[in-house]
Amino acid sequence: MFWQLASAANRALPAETAHSLAVKAMEFGFVPAATVADRQMQTGCAGLEFSNPLGLAAGFDKNAEAVSGALKLGFGHIEVGTITPLPQPGNPRPRVFRLKSDNAVINRYGFNSQGMEAAARRLERLSGSAQAGIVGVNIGANKASTDKFDDYYKTARRLAPVADYLTINISSPNTEGLRDLQHDDSLRRTIAAATQGCRIQASQYLSL
Ligand SMILES: Cc1cc2nc3c(=O)[nH]c(=O)nc-3n(C[C@H](O)[C@H](O)[C@H](O)COP(=O)(O)O)c2cc1C
Repeated sequence: MFWQLASAANRALPAETAHSLAVKAMEFGFVPAATVADRQMQTGCAGLEFSNPLGLAAGFDKNAEAVSGALKLGFGHIEVGTITPLPQPGNPRPRVFRLKSDNAVINRYGFNSQGMEAAARRLERLSGSAQAGIVGVNIGANKASTDKFDDYYKTARRLAPVADYLTINISSPNTEGLRDLQHDDSLRRTIAAATQGCRIQASQYLSL
């Protein structure tokens, strides 16, 4: 019943409004709590222990507002972000489009982010609470950045202490030049910058 109502309300709203409301609902805990914790679903990867293999992908909770709600819903992990060093608005609206016949959306948010400070402070508050679940942090570069490597260094340095793992986002088509970082020397420099930023701890995992 909850999901039927939520789904009907969601579809009646513009895509981005529905997304923002869902994040707020999760932030304030207006979600049903998972009731079954099945030990058979426990799994591990890269030294991390997951209560189940189902995670909430990056892009839903761009500013680390909905972590507790996602874990309450029963996700085994949540990846927040993409988070940029400085706040930036992203692309002009509309920037999320429903493809109804495909049950899909096209996302052209363009890294709308409140910036690493806001996200880090939220994650710091959470780390003191009794939450169960893995929190990954997905990092990116600002649109107006003149040194993208430094952006990965800065975000890794600020956010690694509050993350169970980091993801370097170099695949978004919505930030000009970002995908150039996937090649040769640029890729090496990006990974080196992020690694240096988080001074990788033994327990930490960096994914691409
Ligand atoms: C609205 C929307 C926003 C997204 N934003 C991000 C993002 O900020 N960073 C990122 O790494 N991926 C982002 N993604 C990609 C998702 O994390 C995921 O990789 C993608 O939806 C494919 O997973 P799926 O096949 O389970 O849908 C976004 C996806 C959607 C639909």
